[in-house]
Amino acid sequence: MKMQFTRRQFLRSAGGITFLALTPAGRGLFAATDPRVVQPVLVPLFTALPYVQPGDSSKLVPGKESIRLAWQTEARAADFAVRYGPDKAYGRTAAISRNERTQGSKEDTEGRFNYAATLEGLELGARYLYEVKCNGQLIAEGFFTTRQPRGQPVRFAAFGDNSFGEVSDRAIAYQTYQAHPDFVMNTGDNVYEGGLDNEYGRYFFPVYNADVASPRGGAPLLRSVPFYTVIANHDVHGKDAHGRPAANFDQDADSLAYYTNFHLPLNGPAPAQPTPIIGAAEKLNAFRACAGPRFPRTANYSFDYGDAHFLCLDANVYVDPTNAALQAWIEDDLRSTDAAWKFVVYHHPAFNVGLEHYEEQHMRVLHPIWERHGVAFVLNGHEHSYQRTRPLRFAPKDSAKASAINQKDRRVPGDFTIDRAFDGDKVTRAEGVIHLTTGAGGKHLYDAGFSSDPSKWLREDDGNVDYVERFVSDRHSLTLFDIDAQTLLLRQIDEFGIEIDRIRVTKA
Ligand SMILES: [Fe+2]
Repeated sequence: MKMQFTRRQFLRSAGGITFLALTPAGRGLFAATDPRVVQPVLVPLFTALPYVQPGDSSKLVPGKESIRLAWQTEARAADFAVRYGPDKAYGRTAAISRNERTQGSKEDTEGRFNYAATLEGLELGARYLYEVKCNGQLIAEGFFTTRQPRGQPVRFAAFGDNSFGEVSDRAIAYQTYQAHPDFVMNTGDNVYEGGLDNEYGRYFFPVYNADVASPRGGAPLLRSVPFYTVIANHDVHGKDAHGRPAANFDQDADSLAYYTNFHLPLNGPAPAQPTPIIGAAEKLNAFRACAGPRFPRTANYSFDYGDAHFLCLDANVYVDPTNAALQAWIEDDLRSTDAAWKFVVYHHPAFNVGLEHYEEQHMRVLHPIWERHGVAFVLNGHEHSYQRTRPLRFAPKDSAKASAINQKDRRVPGDFTIDRAFDGDKVTRAEGVIHLTTGAGGKHLYDAGFSSDPSKWLREDDGNVDYVERFVSDRHSLTLFDIDAQTLLLRQIDEFGIEIDRIRVTKA
């Protein structure tokens, strides 16, 4: 019988002293290099070291789990092989696809080869080892743990608005790594300034897939820990002739790397308002060829993990959340899961009191759906701060501006019902949805001075309802969730590893 255990159990069994998923393979790519030793030149050059992605797994089905192992190189031919299995005998060989990713921006004119190996037929909640060979040479060894089945405890980290080349990104990556999450849920704005492939090569992969863990360098997360994410405003770079957001492939041929770097579930609908793309036909065709079915489908998707369900949505300004087809899919998705804990993830926070994006409230119109299906948390970014609301119910009164796509003012007035008895300590049953803005993941912070002055957390438009209970804008931070059966623990951890917020939520 196959032994199943969690990542944390594995770490404990290993003495808890190592989280390095990729062990040095001889003088391989992932060994910390000794500057006194001349290292062999590996051809081709890697622009992204092997990283684990969720792939197209949504429902939890024993024996049907799959994982994508992706990597990227310069556009130079090489012969790759990936083997995987429950132990070092490996036993199975993965099918590998290769797609060309055009570059051509002002910053970087080199082409890329994007590789993806499909590791399938996996059990749930099981650890697997993998090895990568390039032209016959072993270059990497690693492990990952597949999604936990129902009934197993889960820890995940959430943060957004990250990757622009500063030390704050790397500090958050390091603190995430220190927490040993089963996976990371990014809340959008994955890389600055415009979600371009060359920006991932500079600001994303080197930070979240660093060879060595350090507060100033990042951490080796991606080679072992799946990253889920959502598409956000900085993931779409450019404007059309009318000044509306649109990925402009004439301006940046490596636009929309969200759709080519991430391998996410394909169970979403064909979007009614897909991410707009403009540019010469050959550039658009090259992008479509690389993205395959991921564009535009991975704008919306869902998946289960342990006792939790995650619904991930595109909330960009070109989306009309009153769209009937979109709402029907959302309803169906939330209705059809039996997960105890339901999360909704999108970028633009419908309930926040910051100064930057308060008016972008279009996703408020979906709140009755969240309430109907017992959603526990909505996770957002966009505001570069940490904001946690009290459990709330909200009845929209006027949805007209929510439909006004590409407008700045998307305000949705309505009636609030606030659960003020919940304190996350002695009273842990939440009557309503808790909205969490966790957009302090690396980029510069907004709203200095808000942390210490709750009088600023009120908005006249909302009748000065005190729905925000905690607001931290003086430091970067990430969110940790621990889900164990009927109990959920939320902790907010700052860039130095200090806990700055904690609540417990219970179902029973
Ligand atoms: Fe944003």
